[in-house]
Amino acid sequence: MKTLYLSNTTEDILKAADILRDGGLVAMPTETVYGLAANALDGDAVRRIFEAKGRPMDNPLIVHVSEFSDIDRLHLVAEIPEKARSLAEAFWPGPLTIIMKKGAVIPDEVSAGLDTVAIRIPSHPDAHRLMALSGLALAAPSANTSGKPSPTTAGHVRDDMDGRIEAVIDGGACSVGVESTVITVATDIPRILRPGLITREEIEAVIGHIEVDRAVLNKLENNEKAASPGMKYKHYAPKARVILVRGTDEKYITFVNRAYARDKGVAAMCYDEDASRISAPCVTMGGMNDEKQQAQELFDALRAVDTIEGVSTVYAHCPSAEGVGMALYNRMIRAAAFEVIDLPKKRVIGLTGQTGAGKSEVARLMAERGLPVVSADAAARKAVEDESVKRALCDAFGDVLLPDGSLDRRKTAEVAFSSPENTAKLNAITHPKIRAIMLDEAEQAAGEWVVFDASQLFESGEDTLCDLIVSVVADRKLRMERLRTRDGIGDEEIARRMSVQYDESFFRAMSDAVIENNGTVGALDRAVGNICERLVSP
Ligand code: TXA
Ligand code: MG
Repeated sequence: MKTLYLSNTTEDILKAADILRDGGLVAMPTETVYGLAANALDGDAVRRIFEAKGRPMDNPLIVHVSEFSDIDRLHLVAEIPEKARSLAEAFWPGPLTIIMKKGAVIPDEVSAGLDTVAIRIPSHPDAHRLMALSGLALAAPSANTSGKPSPTTAGHVRDDMDGRIEAVIDGGACSVGVESTVITVATDIPRILRPGLITREEIEAVIGHIEVDRAVLNKLENNEKAASPGMKYKHYAPKARVILVRGTDEKYITFVNRAYARDKGVAAMCYDEDASRISAPCVTMGGMNDEKQQAQELFDALRAVDTIEGVSTVYAHCPSAEGVGMALYNRMIRAAAFEVIDLPKKRVIGLTGQTGAGKSEVARLMAERGLPVVSADAAARKAVEDESVKRALCDAFGDVLLPDGSLDRRKTAEVAFSSPENTAKLNAITHPKIRAIMLDEAEQAAGEWVVFDASQLFESGEDTLCDLIVSVVADRKLRMERLRTRDGIGDEEIARRMSVQYDESFFRAMSDAVIENNGTVGALDRAVGNICERLVSP
């Protein structure tokens, strides 16, 4: 099928109206996002919407009309409850969708077999004229391929729908940018099923107390039923993996820069003000204090992610879920398939270094200066006491438990370090738990700063959680000597341990400070003192 690209002149809108009356599909601009419209009362036409989008048939559509009186005139609902009237009065035409008990004329395709129907009067003049000139109520979901971000320009629609629908009306970029707030008044207490530009607070100011459906901010359990079927599907997702990162601007910027320093497949999705301080490729999503602009730019930003070459992971700065932020968070958490990284609230010094360089000694000296030290080794020992970690290790490496049920560390180490693949498996099983334990201990520690003492700081990705990184290095000969006396191991084992570590230049490049531990204990103490003073004191 050849898709017709129309302007928003009356002549073109009349053409689109004809297409709709003939049972065709037209993408139309609304103030929220572009909708893929069909005659709402023609079940066959509506079915074609699902085909064009690849949309699951159990996800109902919104019926759009141009006048409040159309709802009664076309018998779209069984009755209009008082609260729906108040909401319509306050917010229509505009980005609010109201769910009511449906009228008998509503085809099953529209309501997906539910006994309710969603109604909205959009404020966009082109949508308004299209409905007025066609005389039709229009069923219209967002005009994207199912699962992708909703389209906010005619170009987005073309990317997804070219050749699949009869026509697109280009009405420019949508001003709101996220889909309408969906509220049901078919329940005892009205409930928001999808947040949008019109906030809970604004609605409560008109009709009093309402609820927010659990699925708005939380992941549904497998057996939980979605009040709004659309909420159960993965949504808004670019091809790259999106992960939300929650923390202050400063922490977020440091996080992304450290992640990018190690992995060039990383990109950022950030507020305008932070972009210049981020070394990774960025897409911006509006000014940090302008939630309306963020809403307007969000879907374009998510689509832009896929235009960055070579990107595999996008770290998006997590918005607060307050006010309009609830709509942003709701879309972004779905784009991220609910993957969130919480950055520590404490300020963290990552302490790491080459084996045998004297990192533990530095940790001790830092602790002496009153800095709480969280040890990755201790966290690792705790992590393997966890039942689910033990189970996962047995699944991966066979029976690695001692008769008393505790982990056989020797046996585990033997298998896990027998190949790089097994080592990666071990890390994938243990690192998340180790990290959780360390974060927990950090939050419980007294004071503003904590030290993460971790020889695998970079390998585990915990470097990204650190405000500052201090590495300890020493001459190779000295380190070998220390390992010989400290661990009583031979040259071959020493060489092996050293060969799997990063070299000194890596530690230097990735650290904010480097301690050279080639001298005496007194010199080391002074070096630590200097660093603590220089880095930690304001
Ligand atoms: O801003 C918008 O609402 C845009 C523009 C085009 O109007 N439309 C839109 O439609 O976003 P769509 O289909 O992408 O999203 C409609 C949402 C889905 O999550 C769907 O499950 C829910 O509304 N929905 C529709 N009818 C429902 C009903 N009877 N009961 C519960 N949820 C319903
Ligand atoms: Mg949609």
